[in-house]
Amino acid sequence: MTKSKNKRQTDTIYQTVSVLSALAVIATGNPTVGYAGYFYSNCIAPSIDAANAYGGSCINIENFPLKSFTAYVESGSCTDGTSAVLNTYTASGCNYSTLYETVSVESEKQCFEADVTLVSLKAECI
Ligand SMILES: *[C@@H]1O[C@H](CO)[C@@H](O)[C@H](O)[C@H]1NC(C)=O
Repeated sequence: MTKSKNKRQTDTIYQTVSVLSALAVIATGNPTVGYAGYFYSNCIAPSIDAANAYGGSCINIENFPLKSFTAYVESGSCTDGTSAVLNTYTASGCNYSTLYETVSVESEKQCFEADVTLVSLKAECI
């Protein structure tokens, strides 16, 4: 009796937390950019590296030499008046001093030529 009551309370707390974290994601409106790196130009399969870059945070990726990469807005969006970009870096940590290229990212997957070893990525709205 007491045991099942406690379980119900736990479930309620869990649901409340889930709703709050869902709201937090919507409120920030940050895009998630799907990225894939290719050993050949023209983004010819197979990709050798893939990652999701969440808006505003830096991710480190496998440092394979690339000839092209694809990027698109996989989910989320930027607030009005800004648009999604993907910053690519040649060293870990997304330091501006190692910025390789900033590309505009659309909801359609686009192929970008590159002759570089990318090591970190950061998506943002500018
Ligand atoms: C970024 O790189 C510059 C130049 O190498 C360096 O001075 C700076 O401390 C770095 N910033 C971070 C946050 O690592």
